[in-house]
Amino acid sequence: MSQSERLVLATRYRLVSEIGQGANGTVWRGHDELLDRAVAIKELRLPDNLAEDDRVVFYRRTLREARAPAQLRTHSIVEVYDVVIEQGRPWIVMEMIEAPSLEQLIERSGPLPPERVAHIGRALLDALNTAHKAGIVHRDLKPSNVLLDGDRVVLTDFGLAFSSGSASLTKTGHFMGSPAYVAPEVAAGEKATPRSDLWSLGATLYAALEGRPPFERENVMATLSALANESTPAPQNAGALAPVITGLLEKNPTRRLSHARAVDRLERAMAGPRSGRRAPTPRYRLMVVIGLIGATVASCGIGATALIVGMMRESPGPSPTAGASTTPGGSAAQAAAPPGAATSTLAVRARTDSCKIFVSVPGTAITVLADETLHRGEARRYDQPRLNAVVYDASACDVWVNGQQKPAGKPGERQNYTLNKE
Ligand SMILES: Nc1ncnc2c1ncn2[C@@H]1O[C@H](COP(=O)(O)OP(=O)(O)OP(=O)(O)O)[C@@H](O)[C@H]1O
Ligand SMILES: [Mg+2]
Repeated sequence: MSQSERLVLATRYRLVSEIGQGANGTVWRGHDELLDRAVAIKELRLPDNLAEDDRVVFYRRTLREARAPAQLRTHSIVEVYDVVIEQGRPWIVMEMIEAPSLEQLIERSGPLPPERVAHIGRALLDALNTAHKAGIVHRDLKPSNVLLDGDRVVLTDFGLAFSSGSASLTKTGHFMGSPAYVAPEVAAGEKATPRSDLWSLGATLYAALEGRPPFERENVMATLSALANESTPAPQNAGALAPVITGLLEKNPTRRLSHARAVDRLERAMAGPRSGRRAPTPRYRLMVVIGLIGATVASCGIGATALIVGMMRESPGPSPTAGASTTPGGSAAQAAAPPGAATSTLAVRARTDSCKIFVSVPGTAITVLADETLHRGEARRYDQPRLNAVVYDASACDVWVNGQQKPAGKPGERQNYTLNKE
């Protein structure tokens, strides 16, 4: 075992084993001895030839900027728990994501289908919107910084790219961001902005669809030269996503798609060519059903509510658990299950006010059934043939799978459930 592998940082975070290395350092699997949970630890390393002043500037900036994303609490941004200086360099302690990166997925399986890329793009736009609203620019969005944990898309490494804001660091020749994903204006020396993150998003989604980024060449100089001089190639496998990709890969930042327009174009593409409007989610579908029933029965003098409760009682599936079956989430889920299909049941009831859940139905187009925080006593039930669920704090929620209560977890522990009746 090497010196680093025995290290315990801040008398608390034990390094266990190396996960991988990138341009800026090493990511370790670690263990938080105080909270007894797995963590990922990013060790940032600067080149040995860097002047001491530059080192100090970088460390200060790291402390400031790595702490900023710690304030961003959204399921599509990796949670930063702590930043410590140890052995003369910064270490970022964060949520452990046991999942491959988008880069690994592309390497392993080749280009991804547009439906999957649309889901990834939508989640990354949400992550960027949250960060940009808080004044944080990512500066190094690329497939290796996107982790894919089932349906959950998680962006990591906020603000860690070298050189921004420090003229002296730039002079040392460190390129900010990754050449194949960096916006042309940033490559030309301008400051990174929310719009340059949107370029990197375009290049990332392009790479997911085509198997390689738009301006990748045999070396850094050739890549930067292509970025400066060649026009953006049209994606070949993008299908309905082509307008989003080309709009994000607009070289002039003032003409590049804004966040709102990118969301709009992506949602139009996801809704399909005929509708022109967004396809209703299962919840909306149920509301449409309720609306129709309400209109029909109003003339007969029967309350729509009674009829819907009757309809839910008749629906197949295990007996209700934890009183959750009459909640809106549960009924929406029932409405979405194909008629007659064998279903699995997931029921969740909040023990505290911080029972955060993410529930989705996997498939080529992923349907998100819930992305919410339940308050104490609130409950949800989902009946589906296939289901993925994430409970972010296992101590805050009671969970039943097919009527069986799951053991309560530790504070801060994340639990994933995959239900499959097919
Ligand atoms: N929070 C995390 N949980 C689990 N694995 C992670 C986490 N963050 C990063 N990784 C993994 O660690 C590996 C190394 O990441 P690292 O950021 O050092 O390299 P990179 O993204 O390839 O390059 P760069 O240094 O330019 O960001 C990657 O394979 C990544 O998937
Ligand atoms: Mg990284």
